[in-house]
Amino acid sequence: MKKVIIDCDPGHDDAIALLLASRADNIKILGVTTVAGNSEVYNTTRNARKVLDYADVFDVPVYRGCEKPLMRNLYRLTGAIIHGEDGLGGPSIPDPVTPIEKEHAVDYIIRTLKESDEKITLIPTGPLTNIAMALTKAPEIKAKIDKIIIMGGAIMDAGNITSAAEFNMYVDPEAAKIVFASGCNIYLNTLDVSMKAVFYEEDIERLRLQGDKVSVIVAQLLDFFADTHVKHFNFRACPVHDALCVGILIDESIIEYQKTFVDISVNDPLTMGETVADLWGITGNEPNCHISVKVDREKFVNMIINHMRKPYIKK
Ligand code: BDR
Ligand code: CA
Repeated sequence: MKKVIIDCDPGHDDAIALLLASRADNIKILGVTTVAGNSEVYNTTRNARKVLDYADVFDVPVYRGCEKPLMRNLYRLTGAIIHGEDGLGGPSIPDPVTPIEKEHAVDYIIRTLKESDEKITLIPTGPLTNIAMALTKAPEIKAKIDKIIIMGGAIMDAGNITSAAEFNMYVDPEAAKIVFASGCNIYLNTLDVSMKAVFYEEDIERLRLQGDKVSVIVAQLLDFFADTHVKHFNFRACPVHDALCVGILIDESIIEYQKTFVDISVNDPLTMGETVADLWGITGNEPNCHISVKVDREKFVNMIINHMRKPYIKK
């Protein structure tokens, strides 16, 4: 059983990442931590609880995290355009009943890692603010981290906020810089693969036709997300970026990686948030990260469709 903490900003694709992890036989979600990103942390915390409650996941605690990036104000425009004003536009999901835990997300991450006898995998699917805070406050937790599987960045392809930067890295570049320099075992799923692991209309219909309440709500989330991608990027398919970070724990063959040195641009306005990779080893720096280079779209789409109809089984 792989033990994970999912640090997220739901967000349509974050929501699907949570659902996929909750249905995976080999993954135990120890806790969900939330961060400001696609929307304010009030909304992302509410959305995480809404989605978990809706999917009968009542035993996974949710911890609220940082409400703004380390050194900047929250960049709000794109999140609202792509995910809706409250971060989870589309289907109306009932208000959550599960309370928010009292402990701060950063303290929860530190405590859980320190107390654990086994290594734990961190899955950040939003800006890296909470993770950078935890690594800075308690660097000794690094010894307890198995992997950090990050959704973010763009290396061979263009970004989605600027031509250089992807949203999660752009929102909190200083946090990303800290995480990439941490020495942890990092897997980076970039837009290079997530924009290829897309749902087409017929995939969304397959999901809807399964007819169970989780599959139907996920189809409706994808309808909304697909529409905003057409409207704002003129992109006629629906990515599910964040769920890839869970997907590779279920079947590691869905993504191929290359070990590379990566740093984050923080000072230059033109490239701020860029994941700059030393693909050809020019700097002589040791690789600090596995970057995604290839994805199996069909395997990933089938994985999501097949998992959504499973009932939740407490692990
Ligand atoms: C990332 O940004 C957010 O909009 C998504 O949830 C995903 O984590 C993609 O750039
Ligand atoms: Ca996200």
